[in-house]
Amino acid sequence: MLQELELPLPNDFHIHLRQGEALVNYAKSAGEQFGLVMAMPNTEPAIDSPELVKKYKEEILAAAPNLQVLLTFKLNKNYTEQELLAMQKNGAVAAKYYPFGVTTNSQDGVSKIEDIYPTIALLEKLDLVLSLHGEEPGVFCLDKEKDFLKHLEKLSKTFPKLRIVLEHVSCVEAVECVKSLPENIAATITVHHLILTLDDIIGDSLRPQNFCKPLPKLPKDRDAVRAAAFSGNKKFFFGSDSAPHALEKKQSLSGAAGVYSAPVAVPILIEEFEKENKLNLLADFVSNFGADFYKIPRQTKKATYVKKEWQVPKTIDGAVPLRAGETLKWS
Ligand code: NCD
Ligand code: ZN
Repeated sequence: MLQELELPLPNDFHIHLRQGEALVNYAKSAGEQFGLVMAMPNTEPAIDSPELVKKYKEEILAAAPNLQVLLTFKLNKNYTEQELLAMQKNGAVAAKYYPFGVTTNSQDGVSKIEDIYPTIALLEKLDLVLSLHGEEPGVFCLDKEKDFLKHLEKLSKTFPKLRIVLEHVSCVEAVECVKSLPENIAATITVHHLILTLDDIIGDSLRPQNFCKPLPKLPKDRDAVRAAAFSGNKKFFFGSDSAPHALEKKQSLSGAAGVYSAPVAVPILIEEFEKENKLNLLADFVSNFGADFYKIPRQTKKATYVKKEWQVPKTIDGAVPLRAGETLKWS
């Protein structure tokens, strides 16, 4: 039986590191798990200027000096070409689009994506990536991702050279849609969408630690996401969407959306890939495919994981991690 596994340092192409004091802990902890992270811009205040991109990068690096950090900025308005060039110069590789009101800190989101087509045309010109939170506001919760796909299809036709990532893909239709579009359209996959369904949020009991956007859905949706991750298709790569919220924000009558997975993500991935007999595809999924898509060098350093059980703490840095209190197989 396999006791040890070597992987290239994992790259997490979608993580929330927050701001202020919390950022220091979350960035440090990410630095222990990943070689590279792409930090999302839905902080308070939002990262939406070249100056803030630069400042955020410096803050993350101060907490985690060995972490490679890619930045994003919020696509909450139109930007000039000069602004976008300055974003790029300061470390941003992607612009993140949040539809209005669909997730944490998206009240400044854009209601009609066509309103920012002028900026999206510039992203294509400058070879910046468009990163999409793909949920349609105002429709039934389980249909939100499916109903967003028309925007992705239109974007792909309108901007044929633009690289687009549909983040945290979570339903059958979205997996099929990404597969059907050209090579420059990819998707990230989280650990929690590989293992959770609605049952884990509202089944036997209400488990706010598993509540996130997009919602984990039906077994067939989880299975479609799993099949994509275990397929070896380079369009699907790892982005944890690790999104910690303080316990009191989760235990609330209007609880915050987000699963805190960074501290457990890689051990769970190994466990799941091992279960499916697909460990040979894990290095590509967790490190190489994302690097290729973002046109950055693949990791040359390795990390070694050992088959040694450990118990996930009930809280880490004030947030309840995925699988809190449970035993994981890999360290
Ligand atoms: C994320 C957060 O808390 O910042 N929440 C989530 O449920 N995934 C935002 C996001 O990526 O939607
Ligand atoms: Zn996210």
